[in-house]
Amino acid sequence: MSQRKFFVGGNWKMNNLKKDNEKLIDLINNANINYDQTEVLVSPPALYLDFVRQKINPQVHVAAQNCYKVEKGAFTGDISPAMIKDCGGDFVILGHSERRNVFGESDQLIGEKVKHALESGLNVLPCIGEKLEEREAGKTEEVVFRQMKHIADNIKDWAKVVIAYEPVWAIGTGKTASPQQAQDVHAQLRKWLASNVSQAVADSTRILYGGSVTAANAKELATQPDIDGFLVGGASLKPEIVDIINARA
Ligand code: G3P
Repeated sequence: MSQRKFFVGGNWKMNNLKKDNEKLIDLINNANINYDQTEVLVSPPALYLDFVRQKINPQVHVAAQNCYKVEKGAFTGDISPAMIKDCGGDFVILGHSERRNVFGESDQLIGEKVKHALESGLNVLPCIGEKLEEREAGKTEEVVFRQMKHIADNIKDWAKVVIAYEPVWAIGTGKTASPQQAQDVHAQLRKWLASNVSQAVADSTRILYGGSVTAANAKELATQPDIDGFLVGGASLKPEIVDIINARA
């Protein structure tokens, strides 16, 4: 198995009120988790970043689900990396498929956000992934390589980057990519990093799988050599998130 530390993130999306967050925080704080073996991240809605940071185990990363590309200004409704840090966040998820396909974010904008978030001192968790029609047209690699280039062109320090591959057709659908399907794309992404960045970056960068990960499928997915962890949506709001965190324990 690789030397890359296993990493499991919970993307809470637009879910939970404070009382729900407190239950989830208590679940994680009281769970049997080996933080030397697995890096854990939670990502609440921005309104709750400070609340979650104050209450959750300090070994757990707290991430925003998005941010804008500048420090401050007339951008109603948005948040900046500086504000995320001010609330104790140390990561930001960027380019999630819902930001791309619901809110219309372009590859270029996502790249600019990656650049500014890194320059602001945050770690970044950029997301890439193809739509069903793109996979069915044999364009998976073309799509994820294009997305990855817009991200990679804005990264100097890869130690602050964790990549998430989330096939859009697997997100929230219950149709998880098979371990081989996921491994095939992860391996191609790692080859892309080796060819376009460096072998060292390819060897060290965690590539997470996201898309209907559950306690039932996490262990088998985690056996794949190029799957370094998960970015979990629905299941991250349930007690089974602990089993997913411990998928490689
Ligand atoms: O960011 C993770 C998310 O997109 C995956 O969602 O519900 O399919 O685990 P879900």
